[in-house]
Amino acid sequence: MTKRVAILISGGGSNMVALARSMHGNHPARPCLVMSNVAGAGGLAKARDLGIQTAVVDHRPFGKDRAGFEAELHKALAAAAPDIICLAGFMRILTADFVSKWNGRMLNIHPSLLPKYKGLHTHARAIEAGDGEAGCTVHEVTASLDDGPILGQARAPILPGDTPDTLAARILPLEHSLYPAVLRRFADGDRTPLFLPGSD
Ligand code: GAR
Repeated sequence: MTKRVAILISGGGSNMVALARSMHGNHPARPCLVMSNVAGAGGLAKARDLGIQTAVVDHRPFGKDRAGFEAELHKALAAAAPDIICLAGFMRILTADFVSKWNGRMLNIHPSLLPKYKGLHTHARAIEAGDGEAGCTVHEVTASLDDGPILGQARAPILPGDTPDTLAARILPLEHSLYPAVLRRFADGDRTPLFLPGSD
């Protein structure tokens, strides 16, 4: 049966677009919802242009009430009945309680070669550390931040003179290849890690 995929975003949504565009033909999944915690997220208009239902649950009115925010998020998600949730530049930390509700069904893309550089400012940290390469990782979401089982990685060199922006510009297209490739396998029940050509 075709799997239903909800995609959570906070910003421009370029990974969301790559995922959504990949789900056609004999792909085992289809997008059912794009949801954002930011009403002005650029990705929402892109999702609507792609004919995908959108929803917004703004985190700000909830202040420190994370459980309240997540209850609303869960309600909106549950209404769309997704089989798989893809976090795609969704910049809110999710609690163990929320994650447990979607255990084994939630993926995330992170712009580093995990387990290196969990959290923010990944490219700046890789450059500062003098690393020779950087990359991106798709992983299953667990209660620990950026820590679940790795489902795929792609890597690229860090070049002399790179800034966080030039490195991000080199990594983002890799994200757009890696995430759809991993999602397709995951929707088919294949959780074997995928290392894109050029990576180890
Ligand atoms: C992507 O680079 C993604 O890896 C990163 O945010 C960007 C979103 O771009 N995610 C994180 O940093 C999660 N911790 P997009 O909105 O164009 O897909």
